[in-house]
Amino acid sequence: MFTKDDNKVFDEIIKARWTCRSFTDEVPTKEEIEAIIEAGKAAPYASIASKDVVPFRHFFVMFKDDPRLETIRRLTAEQSAADLEWLLKEEEKDAFLRENARGLETLWGHVAESGAPVTKAPCLIVMAEWRGARRAERQSLAHMLENMWLKATALNLDVMILSIIESMVDNKEFCDLFGLPVGMYGFHACIIGHHKGEGKVAKPCTAEIHWL
Ligand SMILES: Cc1cc2nc3c(=O)[nH]c(=O)nc-3n(C[C@H](O)[C@H](O)[C@H](O)COP(=O)(O)O)c2cc1C
Repeated sequence: MFTKDDNKVFDEIIKARWTCRSFTDEVPTKEEIEAIIEAGKAAPYASIASKDVVPFRHFFVMFKDDPRLETIRRLTAEQSAADLEWLLKEEEKDAFLRENARGLETLWGHVAESGAPVTKAPCLIVMAEWRGARRAERQSLAHMLENMWLKATALNLDVMILSIIESMVDNKEFCDLFGLPVGMYGFHACIIGHHKGEGKVAKPCTAEIHWL
């Protein structure tokens, strides 16, 4: 069904995907965002968990200068401070965390101070997925994000993942922004736009294949 040339292009898109952390003011078009969301809609979902909920998957799109972006910045700062407090308590009883969570402490500390960098986002997409009993929605959201990331890359757009948004599931003010009930939906989010400054810098991959 797919040719060698199709696969060459597919491989190039996968390799071109990267995490952008600084964007120009240029706002993606509605058509581009719709195409990216179509890719997110095509991602797999945990059908047993979600079969009775219609729709079980939502995409909320906000463009630059939307006043809700400042609300989201503030809420993510508060949430990250709460997450950090939880992490420090967990470290008291979890030796692995104690030894390995320094980077996380620093990152969550920065977000607690400044909030997620959404106020100047050219476009922010928040994705919500109905919660499965085994927290399957987190996996579905990750699949959605990867599909969207690759599609954005194919459209010559750049993406930043906003992992703090995963923590907003029980945050009433956040859920109210989207008219969703508290605690019933998992969240994920990304910023989409055009990168400012240097583009992707190739980094060595530390993964290893073990042919057994
Ligand atoms: C689950 C997950 C959480 C991440 N959280 C953050 C984050 O909080 N801040 C950030 O700048 N990048 C975050 N990233 C991006 C990674 O740092 C990035 O994917 C990794 O360094 C590889 O670089 P690349 O995406 O440019 O290939 C996250 C990525 C994943 C998969």
